[in-house]
Amino acid sequence: MDFLMEQPHALWQQLRSECPVQSIGGDADREAFMVLRRDDVEAVLRDPATFSSSIHNEIMGAVMGEAMIGMDGQEHKDHRDLVVKAFRASALERWGTELIEPSINALLDRIAPLGRADLVDDVTHRYPVQVIAGILGIPVHDYEQFQEWADGITSIAVEPERAQAASDALIAYMLPIIEERRNNPGDDLVSDLAAAEVDGKRLTNDRILAFIRLLLPAGAETTFRAMGNCFVALLTHPDALARVVADRDLIPAVIEETLRWETSVTVISRNAVADTEIDGCPIPAGSVLMLMTSSANRDESHYERSDEWDIDRPPENHLFFGTGRHQCLGMHLARLELRIGLNAVLDRLPNLRLDPDAPPPQIEGFAFRSPPSIPVVFEPVPVR
Ligand code: HEM
Repeated sequence: MDFLMEQPHALWQQLRSECPVQSIGGDADREAFMVLRRDDVEAVLRDPATFSSSIHNEIMGAVMGEAMIGMDGQEHKDHRDLVVKAFRASALERWGTELIEPSINALLDRIAPLGRADLVDDVTHRYPVQVIAGILGIPVHDYEQFQEWADGITSIAVEPERAQAASDALIAYMLPIIEERRNNPGDDLVSDLAAAEVDGKRLTNDRILAFIRLLLPAGAETTFRAMGNCFVALLTHPDALARVVADRDLIPAVIEETLRWETSVTVISRNAVADTEIDGCPIPAGSVLMLMTSSANRDESHYERSDEWDIDRPPENHLFFGTGRHQCLGMHLARLELRIGLNAVLDRLPNLRLDPDAPPPQIEGFAFRSPPSIPVVFEPVPVR
């Protein structure tokens, strides 16, 4: 099986109908399975006693540190409780006006007068990482550097040395900031983490750094890809685009349908801690599970015409943000960024359409799916 294949939906569809829990090899004492149907993926995510998250820290721990995404049980709960308040929907309003709107508008100021742009290079790739940097209280003049480290850390699967170098550089940059915020707390997440306690003990610098290194790929890489997929969907469905331009109440439907239709982070991993079975398939203790949320979100037993992007589809749950105890901590933030970002682009780039002189954009990739570029044209608007 070619794991770097660009268009895997047909394969996932075939496996869903023929063998939805699929052995994909592994080594002698550790078999690996792909799980493709919606009910099976959901059942595994909701059974943390049998399926552990420790696989995340096993794979990424050396570069990323011990982060909550790879913890189980009480340890996970303690770490999540510390930050959950900061990411609640009701806490996000302030970030919306003070940080998210200014970030997207600064990016659009650069391209609005030009009449043409690449929405990936110029907008989606830069926007979420700037939001995370702002949440952490990083000075604006360091955003470009922060972007490079974020890109470096997310290359962990293909370029581990580059990821390690980016992680080391980020640690060297953040350590003095953490110390400074311990002594002079500000109104930012690093100050909150520096003051936070688990079991009456302050979080160590290592734990704070692990959380920060998790937020970069978790919050930036994922949201930028989801936003690119939203634009591909809209720009390749001009009738829907015209309706959305005229009626912005449709934007949440665009976002939810795109998250279902092209799940930009296609896999969630778990490891079985006991002998068990999924859908009748025996799973030995120690096995690695690749839960294919991208496939689950197109499972035809849950979604009619599941390959179609349709903003009139009745609202239905999807597994884009996972489910259960580890369900994405940043999902309200991601949705807010997408809503503000889509609205701003439609407001500021009138008559937005695909560049007729460029190849049409393609959503590509196996583990992460998004368009490498989206060349567009629009009416130029001078910035006052
Ligand atoms: C569209 C964008 C996003 C996608 C596709 C996404 C996807 C996911 C998924 C699937 C998980 C569950 C992992 C698991 O069960 O093992 C997760 C967890 C997490 N996400 Fe997101 N995420 C996105 C945006 C964000 C943002 C904006 C942030 C924060 C700034 C964030 C922070 C986290 C954290 C900290 C966790 C770990 C939660 C835990 O272990 O309890 N994510 N995300």
